[in-house]
Amino acid sequence: MGESLADQMPGHTAGARGSAAAISPFALFFREFLRHPAMIGSIIPSSKRTIEAMLAPVDWASTKLFVEYGPGVGTFCVTILERLAPDATLLVIDTNPVFIDYLRGKFADTRFVAVHGSATDVGDIIAAQGFEQADYVLSGLPFSTLPSGVGEAIAEATHRVLRPGGSFLVYQYSAYVLRLLEPLFDSIDRDLEWWNVPPCGLFWAHKALPE
Ligand SMILES: C[S@@+](CC[C@H](N)C(=O)[O-])C[C@H]1O[C@@H](n2cnc3c(N)ncnc32)[C@H](O)[C@@H]1O
Repeated sequence: MGESLADQMPGHTAGARGSAAAISPFALFFREFLRHPAMIGSIIPSSKRTIEAMLAPVDWASTKLFVEYGPGVGTFCVTILERLAPDATLLVIDTNPVFIDYLRGKFADTRFVAVHGSATDVGDIIAAQGFEQADYVLSGLPFSTLPSGVGEAIAEATHRVLRPGGSFLVYQYSAYVLRLLEPLFDSIDRDLEWWNVPPCGLFWAHKALPE
């Protein structure tokens, strides 16, 4: 294979400003994990293979609004912005203000909007940016360790904001999230990415078009 697991870890540092800019994305992510382990749920960011596999089914040409929950240090954002159309928007939501401050400094791209808030409020957050619905929502939230009821509220809010034909893309270290997705979504595809620390479950939950 010729690659080490470290080679698979995104390590983009260019353009970082602000209070968190003096340390690498890995160090920042690990420091915040030590401060908020249950909210972050992982000691290092996702691998490149997880990013490629998770985003592979996205139809970029038809995407106007792509929402990401829990972007952390922006591991997915780089690839999303590379693929996103010039007139589309990537809106990221994180409860950790350190990450939001870091990302605002990192991405000087007019298509990028970073909001400090909770995914539970995604409906109000996209409305405040002038959107009625999202084409895709991506989540790296640690659903199994979130406070009681938060996972259910996020799954319901996500289903409400997705357009018919849209999808909720979820990467998780356990299949716990299926119990939140199955009652709401019309179909769910799943896979397992071994080239991640730890190996990661991938779920694509689809909201069907009307008959
Ligand atoms: C596992 S980390 C995500 C890492 C990153 N997306 C990656 O691929 O490496 C989980 C993130 O979810 C954020 N988070 C936790 N609860 C949240 C919520 N209710 N709404 C939005 N973000 C949340 C945490 O602050 C953290 O940045």
